Amino acid sequence: MKNVFVTGGSGFIGAAFVRAAVAAGWDVRALARSTASADRLRALGATPVAGDALDESGAWRAVAADSDTVAHVAQPQTYGGRITEKRARRWRDERLQMDRALLSALDPARVDRVIYVAGTSYYGDCGADAPHDEDVAPVPRGWGPYIAPALDVLRAHEARGVRIVQAFPGWVYGPGSWFAEYVLQPLHAGKRVTGLSGRARITSLVHVDDCARALVHLLAAGEAGERYFIVDDAPAENDRPARAAAVALGVPFRSRSVHPLICRLLLGRIVTESLQYENRLSNARLRATGFVPLFPTYERGVPDVVATWLRETQTAALSA
Ligand SMILES: NC(=O)c1ccc[n+]([C@@H]2O[C@H](COP(=O)([O-])OP(=O)(O)OC[C@H]3O[C@@H](n4cnc5c(N)ncnc54)[C@H](OP(=O)(O)O)[C@@H]3O)[C@@H](O)[C@H]2O)c1
Repeated sequence: MKNVFVTGGSGFIGAAFVRAAVAAGWDVRALARSTASADRLRALGATPVAGDALDESGAWRAVAADSDTVAHVAQPQTYGGRITEKRARRWRDERLQMDRALLSALDPARVDRVIYVAGTSYYGDCGADAPHDEDVAPVPRGWGPYIAPALDVLRAHEARGVRIVQAFPGWVYGPGSWFAEYVLQPLHAGKRVTGLSGRARITSLVHVDDCARALVHLLAAGEAGERYFIVDDAPAENDRPARAAAVALGVPFRSRSVHPLICRLLLGRIVTESLQYENRLSNARLRATGFVPLFPTYERGVPDVVATWLRETQTAALSA
């Protein structure tokens, strides 16, 4: 049985990755920086490896170095509250530190492949006209400019032979993270969903389980040195998933619009920009590797997410 060392396995995408990798027969070793994260990882079927991704001399690096494959999903915390330039620069620097700690530990003679998870904010405002492939010129927006330095550094690791597959998920919706907090919870409580005023933007989406399955698929099928968009078949206007969630929840869709200038004041430029750029991205390269999504459109994916979220919310309420 081949093994994979994963960072960020207790997070939103990472937990789905661990579940999908275990289901696909991988032996999963997962970095955990707290006992709560270790417990969560164990429950998902992984073997926790204690350590902090920022620790450049941590013992965990030896476990990563002695693994067949690596999936680097961890990131410093991004959302919640106002994102100031200072906070974004700290995020950029911590991301560089995590990458250095992990990637410099890896010996290309031992580790077959590394899946490096970035995000489509790096491609940013590359246009809603045609479906773009991964060779389109990036116009980083939102968090994108703060991810860019980390992507530049990957070239040095590739030059010494580390086989890196770069994955760029679009907006990942699921029963947790931003979709639960800003869409499902308010709708379910009869409150309004908040969006920006002005026209809706075209954005590229993916169900969290398909995102996770695609990352697991790329562990074996991804080409080293290549980039892959992890998005579904049908980019959509960015208010559509929330409208579909209201239908699936059986509640009226109620929203309020905030002017971008107010959003900048309340949440900062980076969050505002994240809601303003648009891109219509193609998954043709991912599809060409043989990957088949379970949820090719948000119309198919959102009802599944809502059903899971309701089930998990009810279970949590019963055990409280
Ligand atoms: N969510 C999206 O819509 C989206 C879209 C595109 C791309 N992405 C990318 O996907 C990746 C994962 O995103 P996510 O939303 O799943 O993130 P997340 O839910 O915030 O999870 C972050 C993970 O990183 C771990 N972590 C953070 N700092 C750590 C440290 N110092 N040492 C060890 N572990 C640490 C966290 O561990 P704890 O659980 O212990 O805190 C957690 O497991 C990121 O690279 C992100 O940029 C996300």
